[in-house]
Amino acid sequence: MSGLFITMEGTDGAGKSTQLKLLNDYLKKKGFNVVLVREPGSTNIGEKIRNIILDIENKEMNCMTEALLYAASRAQLVNQVIVPELKKGSIVICDRFVDSSIVYQGIARNIGIDIIKKINNIATGGLIPDITFFLDLAPDKAIERKKEQKELDRLESEKDYFYKKVYEGYKILIEQNSERIKVINALQSIDKVHKNIIDNLEKMFF
Ligand SMILES: Nc1ncnc2c1ncn2[C@@H]1O[C@H](COP(=O)(O)OP(=O)(O)OP(=O)(O)O)[C@@H](O)[C@H]1O
Ligand SMILES: [Mg+2]
Repeated sequence: MSGLFITMEGTDGAGKSTQLKLLNDYLKKKGFNVVLVREPGSTNIGEKIRNIILDIENKEMNCMTEALLYAASRAQLVNQVIVPELKKGSIVICDRFVDSSIVYQGIARNIGIDIIKKINNIATGGLIPDITFFLDLAPDKAIERKKEQKELDRLESEKDYFYKKVYEGYKILIEQNSERIKVINALQSIDKVHKNIIDNLEKMFF
């Protein structure tokens, strides 16, 4: 595949959406064909799945149901959008991908990394990002940022210890994928974080 597949990871409130918007604008200005997608969602079917996952009323949702719904949304996104765009040579940037499932469902919800990897391997056909940025923000800071925002969804209203498990989970994943996952200090200003991301990309690809 000739395109470039970039993913953004981090705890809730780390600044993923903020940075993806800036990155999208930057790459477009450089003349690249860029497609920005988010997980779960970004297809008609995926957005419906997203609503089920995030619905605050779905308190009885089983953790395996949740894991499979994420994978189902991902299967649709990979096959309908990501792979066709990469084949055309586009840069695809994705707000969360398999790493999020490994950390949230595999580690924080204790399903296990191997099971989540298996499910997602089926869903994605084994697609791995060319580069992943982890926006590193300690859990207490992330919670602070989130609380400044509006109403929290089902996953965001989890207890604080869940945030800590997620953060620790990311640290394990980073150790295992240190080539692919670039750690960015998300405590820096929005502009500085953006510059770090661009510097990494320019060094590796442009
Ligand atoms: N570097 C930064 N410094 C201070 N505040 C920031 C920074 N980056 C983002 N923010 C602010 O923090 C909040 C969360 O940012 P954003 O929505 O981009 O995070 P996110 O990782 O996409 O969160 P979520 O997981 O909920 O989608 C927003 O109010 C945003 O303006
Ligand atoms: Mg976001």
